[in-house]
Amino acid sequence: MYQNKTNPSEELARKISLFSEIDFKVIQRKVEKIGIKLDAYREDYLARRISYHFNRSLVSNLNEYFDKLSSDEVFLFDLIDCINVNFSYFFRDFEKFEHLKQFILPLLMNAFQHRKLKVWSVGCSIGAEIFSISFILKSLNYLESANLVASDIDREALLRAKDGKYFLREMRSLPTEYLNYFTECGEKEFSLDQSIKDAVKFYLHDISNLNSLNNNKYHLLICRNVVIYFKKELKEKLYSAFYEWLEPGGILFIGANESILGESKNKFQSLGKQFYRKVI
Ligand SMILES: C[S@@+](CC[C@H](N)C(=O)[O-])C[C@H]1O[C@@H](n2cnc3c(N)ncnc32)[C@H](O)[C@@H]1O
Repeated sequence: MYQNKTNPSEELARKISLFSEIDFKVIQRKVEKIGIKLDAYREDYLARRISYHFNRSLVSNLNEYFDKLSSDEVFLFDLIDCINVNFSYFFRDFEKFEHLKQFILPLLMNAFQHRKLKVWSVGCSIGAEIFSISFILKSLNYLESANLVASDIDREALLRAKDGKYFLREMRSLPTEYLNYFTECGEKEFSLDQSIKDAVKFYLHDISNLNSLNNNKYHLLICRNVVIYFKKELKEKLYSAFYEWLEPGGILFIGANESILGESKNKFQSLGKQFYRKVI
């Protein structure tokens, strides 16, 4: 029997070529009407995510796709969800959190012992990342001495973070010692203890808009698996901004497949496992 064996990269190239530059501009305008800017993202990433949305949307051609984006707001938000991948879970990259507990947090607690430890999770998604840090701080008896904030561009993800309800699959790497902070509230769904939820302030914020920030400085800044989707120039600007937003001696925690780019690269000292200290 004949089998159509398409090479995956050819298949991807075919899907990406579905969108011309003009098509892309049409989509960009529709998305920007509801206040989401697409120019921060890498073109190849956007092409992949929009193609994925198009292919699963059961429309037969691009005109139909554009019409649906204009007439059906739920469909438009579904596209935005496809672009803003919210994938996250508690203690993602477990060994990094071990390093945070054993080495990084004690270092910060010691260096800044007379001050509240200020922590910011950028691109926090559903909150699993910052709540993982809250659990560790709680186990070190330091949660009350910390000021935790977390931000994201995605309203839905923030609502979930504030609600504090999680599915079992999002708790797959959670150490058993923290299970008692959850109560079962549905099928394979668990609600986080109010005392942990109250420790974090969540807010809506677009990190690509570098003009929109105040002058706060942080001791620990976490930005993992967010800038990976951005263009190189913006990544470099963001790493410079992260440097500025850290206190001297403060620490930046980045994603497993990320590295600091641009001129701020030499102003950080690696502390292993994707943690970098502001040294200059
Ligand atoms: C893959 S999730 C990573 C979540 C978490 N940091 C982790 O590593 O588990 C990426 C998050 O970045 C957010 N994001 C994407 N663009 C953003 C922007 N311009 N400003 C703020 N957050 C953004 C997305 O909404 C999403 O929640």
